[in-house]
Amino acid sequence: MQRSGSVNKKQYKYDQVSDYVMAMIENGTLKLGDRAPSLRKLSQILKVSISTINQAYVQLEDKGVLQARPQSGFYINADIQCTIDTPKPIISGSCQPRNVRFSKLFEDISKISNNTRIAPFAAAKAPLELMPVKALIRETRNMISRYPAASLDYCYPPGDEKLRHQIALRYSDMGVNVAADEIIITNGATEALSLSLQAVAKRGDIIVVESPTLFSVLRLIEKLGMLALEVDTDPATGINFDSLEYALDTMDVTAMLVVPNFNNPLGSLMPEANKKRLVQLLQERNIPLIEDDVYGDLYFGDERPGIAKCYDNDNRVLSCSSFSKTISPGFRMGWVAGGKHHAQIMEWKQASSTASPSLQQLVLAEFLRSGQYDRHLMHLRKALKFQVEKGRLMIARAFPQGTLISDPQGGCMLWIKLPDGVNCLDLYSLALEHNIGTMPGIIFSATRKFRNYIRLNCGSPWIEENEQAIQTLGELVHSLVN
Ligand SMILES: Cc1ncc(COP(=O)(O)O)c(C=O)c1O
Repeated sequence: MQRSGSVNKKQYKYDQVSDYVMAMIENGTLKLGDRAPSLRKLSQILKVSISTINQAYVQLEDKGVLQARPQSGFYINADIQCTIDTPKPIISGSCQPRNVRFSKLFEDISKISNNTRIAPFAAAKAPLELMPVKALIRETRNMISRYPAASLDYCYPPGDEKLRHQIALRYSDMGVNVAADEIIITNGATEALSLSLQAVAKRGDIIVVESPTLFSVLRLIEKLGMLALEVDTDPATGINFDSLEYALDTMDVTAMLVVPNFNNPLGSLMPEANKKRLVQLLQERNIPLIEDDVYGDLYFGDERPGIAKCYDNDNRVLSCSSFSKTISPGFRMGWVAGGKHHAQIMEWKQASSTASPSLQQLVLAEFLRSGQYDRHLMHLRKALKFQVEKGRLMIARAFPQGTLISDPQGGCMLWIKLPDGVNCLDLYSLALEHNIGTMPGIIFSATRKFRNYIRLNCGSPWIEENEQAIQTLGELVHSLVN
């Protein structure tokens, strides 16, 4: 389909106009609830008559895609089935530190995440189709033949110097001064978070996290014998400062762990002013901040968001990330810039995993150095933005009234509030019977308060099977509404 300029000549002209508008909706140029371009404007852009555009709009109205509003024009129909509105934050005010116990559900979900016969909406990842497979094969061959000894030997902490240098350059692009020597390569972000927690806290200590928060973080806190203190978080702007200050004032908090950029599962993006305020607040109370930025490079806007580390003038932020969401989760390549806790993190790293994979470090260092990473990111961001927006549209069509859908500005996930009374675990089991994976909201909080929420991954391209799976999922949700 042609996306700009004039329409092509194969179909009826009004069909081509419809396709053009649909493409604008699917690629996110037109969002649900937006006003469609005026008849006159589109007729000028596509060089077809106003009556052809009108005919196309009426056709789209019949399909439920557009909605005509008297005196006002056509709008992208938000409530095709349900109102596209983002879930509101749950403000619980008071919170208590808790133990987290979800072992059985975690095990089940890990199994389905690796089953390729199940529609891929459960795990938070981009699919193979969006990974730079050919380039990685080429660089892997290249590195192992050029540097066989370095590729196959131990690469002791802090890790490969060239990779650390590349990561340091990326910090510098964000205006953060982190030297290669201050970075430790880890086995994914999970190890970076684990080492950071162990460096700043011990059993019984209270760790503030966002609510909802990623279940593997809750599980890590549980396994380290620490207590998670969940603080209300807004699906658009991240942590709620009233709740946070209340928690800090009333409890003996040892550390805080946040995902300011495109939090998992909310997709929330903390405004820069809030990142600054957060660091200041913790500085006043002398509390370390563990920052997880695995989705920071996957922004949909024009500029990469900053990180809390940008506002850290006394080295209290432990900055963790990985290449799992952008290059390959299987490479298990992450890092931590631990600030004043660097030395303790080194000790934990040496003691717990001796080294990180050598070949992958060499491959990534070259992938970044040669500019391939930035080119790949441009492509990946575009694909994810399109897929997430199209996912919202399809869910809005398939799910019943009362569903609310998040509107993330980056990453690959949607956080969905199901109509009242629909239990995410019922949906999870029913969907599995149809080979569809979902992530039940209940596991994103030790309080189990997100019973009628689910998280859906939109990382995979919308091939027909996946579109059909959303349709089926919608029917299942309908069947669960009393
Ligand atoms: C916010 C966040 N942090 C960390 C991780 C784990 O990353 P890694 O696979 O690099 O250990 C994930 C994966 O889902 C995540 O969403």
